[in-house]
Amino acid sequence: MKSAFNKMLGATMILGASFFAQGALAQSANCSYSISNEWNTGATGAITITNTSTTAINGWTVGWQYATNRLSSSWNANVSGSNPYSATNLGWNGSISPGQSVSFGFQIDKRGGSAERPTITGSICGGATSSVATTSSSVPASSAPASSVPASSSSVAVSSARSSVASSVTTGQQCNWYGTLYPLCATTQSGWGYENNKSCISRATCTSQPAPYGVVGGASSAALSSSSVASSSSVASSLALSSSSIPSSSSTPSSVARSSSSVAVSSSSIASSSIASSVASSVNGVSLKALADFPIGVAVRAGSEADSILNSAQQKAVLVQHFDQITAENIMKMSYVHPSEATFSFANADALIEFARQNGASVHAHALIWHEDYQVPSFMKSYSGDFPAMLKTHVQTIASHFSGKVVSWDVVNEAIAENSDSSAVNGFRNSVFYQKMGVNFIDQAFIWADEADPVADLYYNDFNTETNDAKTTRLLALIDGMKTRGVPIDGVGFQMHVLPDWPSIANIEASFRAVAQRGLKVKITELDVRVNNKYNSSAPVYTSLTPAAAAAQSERYRQIVAAYLRAVPAAQRGGITVWGMWDAQSWFAKDPDWPLLFDNSFQPKPALQGFANGLTGQ
Ligand code: XIL
Repeated sequence: MKSAFNKMLGATMILGASFFAQGALAQSANCSYSISNEWNTGATGAITITNTSTTAINGWTVGWQYATNRLSSSWNANVSGSNPYSATNLGWNGSISPGQSVSFGFQIDKRGGSAERPTITGSICGGATSSVATTSSSVPASSAPASSVPASSSSVAVSSARSSVASSVTTGQQCNWYGTLYPLCATTQSGWGYENNKSCISRATCTSQPAPYGVVGGASSAALSSSSVASSSSVASSLALSSSSIPSSSSTPSSVARSSSSVAVSSSSIASSSIASSVASSVNGVSLKALADFPIGVAVRAGSEADSILNSAQQKAVLVQHFDQITAENIMKMSYVHPSEATFSFANADALIEFARQNGASVHAHALIWHEDYQVPSFMKSYSGDFPAMLKTHVQTIASHFSGKVVSWDVVNEAIAENSDSSAVNGFRNSVFYQKMGVNFIDQAFIWADEADPVADLYYNDFNTETNDAKTTRLLALIDGMKTRGVPIDGVGFQMHVLPDWPSIANIEASFRAVAQRGLKVKITELDVRVNNKYNSSAPVYTSLTPAAAAAQSERYRQIVAAYLRAVPAAQRGGITVWGMWDAQSWFAKDPDWPLLFDNSFQPKPALQGFANGLTGQ
């Protein structure tokens, strides 16, 4: 350690000496521009600032200009201007320790051109040392009015936000994963891991990504010479920027300093105007995933399903902006991956997982065992051989195949009976699995899954367990028993397909709390919030998503997310996943209902703002 440190110090001194010998100020940061996704009309990308100096940067501003492209939204920075653009840090990502990086993201309209990669300018990028604090007056701010930027990403400036500079435990390095920074895993050797309550990426997987992605930050990059920095996978070759390349501007960035209060769009104000337009201006700059230090997931379709995310630039852009985890809504269920005893079919799931990997999302896998009739492979229903052996092969073949590629599994889904289920046996659903193995099938499934994938978090997943009623009691008895028997369960998934007025927030919170108090992780796995309660004849009936319905739904989302944060300690938050990206995709769309965060035109709904406000405690 000591010699490595000395080596680094030496290299830093040599690097510094060479700058001073040239009579120039030492480089303080590398500022790079990367494209993470590109489609016909647009692209998403990130600007990454890596502190290559030996002192902290406190506050930063960068600028850039396109020939043809224009910004359509941004997140994790205050962006102003209308080409050129200027971006300053938010409250939580302003300080960059030596060797660390921060990134902020954006979506561009290509305007008929290709995705450009402009030079990033700014005093921190181009020659001032970090000890020369970046002040407003030194900023190459645009003189263009800020109003032409569609949304201020200042709305994500909250203290609870995940810092994009979270560093790996041991090295201070991170992985630039297609524009999003993740910690490097300390112990996981390949694929994705989950350490210290965060998704992390193994060094091997990170370093095998194409430039400009890969490992960033840390002592090694701080000590690199300019040529080696430029050739590393992590940063663009911006080291050679001189201050002359900074666009001159006489304006100060006063227009940049927008208030973070823009996130606080109250639901009542939303209700009084057109839903999409009233919200779009405030939420375009929000990134849900940036507001949480746990996974924010979405269920997606793939394979041969209509609406496959793999063929949808719109879905891809929303994914990249808001979510850092996906669940396959269907294509990883039993009958899809194991249609007949001798056939396992992984191609569609593999393609989706690869897509997730390329777009900075981890994968929560769903589900190894589920009673639902159409999802139980028909060969299992009439199996006459050794059922436990067959089921073990099912679980272990699938879990081994995806080991290292998924971060968690719903191992058993919906085994506990509904309160009204007259065919229940001992409180359990009378499924083929229960009939063949009794309740032991649950324990065994977890034991088998753990053998096949010792790293992934293993969840028991169910619905109507957030009710704090008899079904919740049966859930608690099940997990208490599993823990007593030493079964390797890591967490409980609450599906949370909730109604507008049921269950109560108090009951939801109590249910989360009861599981959290048992030391398990709590994950909201399939969240959707319907606006109609068809089981309550006195509830209002909405035949379209009116402003009032949208406002009530927004508030419900806010309260659910807030309850989750109150009830579940940070270390036990497995994340929150919404069950679909936009209303037309919801499995309740046919009711009709509008339970998700984006409307049928893909516009963000007040629900998105409610979710964000829940995360930020507003
Ligand atoms: C649903 C999907 O959303 C639908 O597309 C499909 O037709 C049926 O299954 N609980 C679960 C999910 O665990 O797998 C279900 O998903 C919704 C209820």
